Amino acid sequence: MSLLEIDKENLPRHVAVIMDGNGRWAKKKGQRRENGHRAGRKAVKRIVESCAELKIKNLTLYAFSTENWNRPKVEIDFLMQLLLLSLKDELKNLNKNNIKFETIGNLDRLPKKISNYLLKVKEQTKNNSALTLTLALSYGSRSEIVNVVREISDKVKNNIISLKKIDESVINDHLYTRHLPDVDLLIRTSGEKRISNFLLWQIAYAELYFTKKMWPDFGKEDLYKAIISYQNRERRFGKTSEQVK
Ligand code: FPP
Repeated sequence: MSLLEIDKENLPRHVAVIMDGNGRWAKKKGQRRENGHRAGRKAVKRIVESCAELKIKNLTLYAFSTENWNRPKVEIDFLMQLLLLSLKDELKNLNKNNIKFETIGNLDRLPKKISNYLLKVKEQTKNNSALTLTLALSYGSRSEIVNVVREISDKVKNNIISLKKIDESVINDHLYTRHLPDVDLLIRTSGEKRISNFLLWQIAYAELYFTKKMWPDFGKEDLYKAIISYQNRERRFGKTSEQVK
């Protein structure tokens, strides 16, 4: 797959990735899971760079789910340290490449040191406009939807919004992803074919792309392949084939 095969006029506006397989990648090599996550970090860097080069506007990465809190404490601590280290290392590069950094998820559950640093990176990149890189951290889609219901109910109760005015756009405006368009292309690595509580509302019309590659092995070529697959699909949004032609 080459860059030349990509139609620059028909790029997905929003690519979301379930980065899966770090642990299995390491195990296959007889290494510790931590090494898989270290290699996963390098893959993150490659894919962010590729998206920026391609001029994709939005990239969202599932870095830590609400369910991931159930992992052994040593692994959680390692992932948190890796995240902090990556943010510190990459802040300059984000600005150099005009990348805006965002997060979705419940940051209150993260160690204070990390949530503070996340806020700092968001603040210092907020005026960048080439690519919005959103990390899903302590994120779960169902809990996001529960929060939306709570917030909107509270507004109804306090007469800030009337029941009749609640529509899809009101819900969109209360999701963590309110800064993003719907997902066009969802990629999951490692051969699993599940959504795992990721962006359930936002992927209503997304094209799904599954690959057996483990996340640490996922590179530019694999991203191109996913985009070319996306570009060869007919997105009908419920209409007939004739209507969309
Ligand atoms: C899935 O592999 C990956 C994660 C739970 C964490 C994602 C973290 C990274 C890609 C590394 C660093 C990222 C940033 C943003 C600095 P897994 O552990 O579930 O693999 P397995 O299913 O094979 O066990």
